[in-house]
Amino acid sequence: MSVFDGLATGYDWGMLPLEWAVLRRLRRRAFPQVVGRVLEAGVGTGVNLPLYGPHAQVVALDASGPMLAQASRRPTQAPVRPVQADAEHLPFADGSFDAVTGSLLLCSVKSPARALAEVRRVLVAGGRLVLVEHTRGKGLGAWLTDLLHPLWFSFNGTCHLNRETGRAVAAAGFRPVLEETRGLGIFRVIEGRK
Ligand SMILES: C[S@@+](CC[C@H](N)C(=O)[O-])C[C@H]1O[C@@H](n2cnc3c(N)ncnc32)[C@H](O)[C@@H]1O
Repeated sequence: MSVFDGLATGYDWGMLPLEWAVLRRLRRRAFPQVVGRVLEAGVGTGVNLPLYGPHAQVVALDASGPMLAQASRRPTQAPVRPVQADAEHLPFADGSFDAVTGSLLLCSVKSPARALAEVRRVLVAGGRLVLVEHTRGKGLGAWLTDLLHPLWFSFNGTCHLNRETGRAVAAAGFRPVLEETRGLGIFRVIEGRK
């Protein structure tokens, strides 16, 4: 049982302000050019699925059945196969994917290092990791995310406001390709290669 099971039906409405303020632009920046065998980890309600083109074959993975059920209703040009599984224990062979994508996932997994090791394992050599994440900010953003994190986490029990996700991606052995920040450095597109 995941906290997201109970959030699935209201999730998109709850996210609307953030989508319009910042996320939709970052998603459009990150995902439309991803092609080949793609694993989207933590697909949620499938908000990124309409962004993939017909040259992506997407495995849409999430731990939450109700979130996956919402995702299955999304229109998309790409063939999509839903899989309910844990991103920290991926049920795929080594080198199964050309790209792994995700958004707002690494804030809520138990161990980002474990999830990133699994992502790296299932990528082909040279495969792409493309993420849109909220992270610990920069300057005032760092102060703000550090300040708000304990209250936010005590409220939802899953989402970390101040994770250093860019650093975790590099520490997992990905070669940095791109890191773009928005909103006090809190929101990021992070791309790396295996
Ligand atoms: C904050 S939501 C983000 C959903 C979507 N990617 C988006 O951008 O709106 C996080 C999603 O990750 C999923 N999730 C969290 N931990 C997971 C894990 N260990 N394995 C698979 N999915 C996980 C949750 O079920 C949820 O659907």
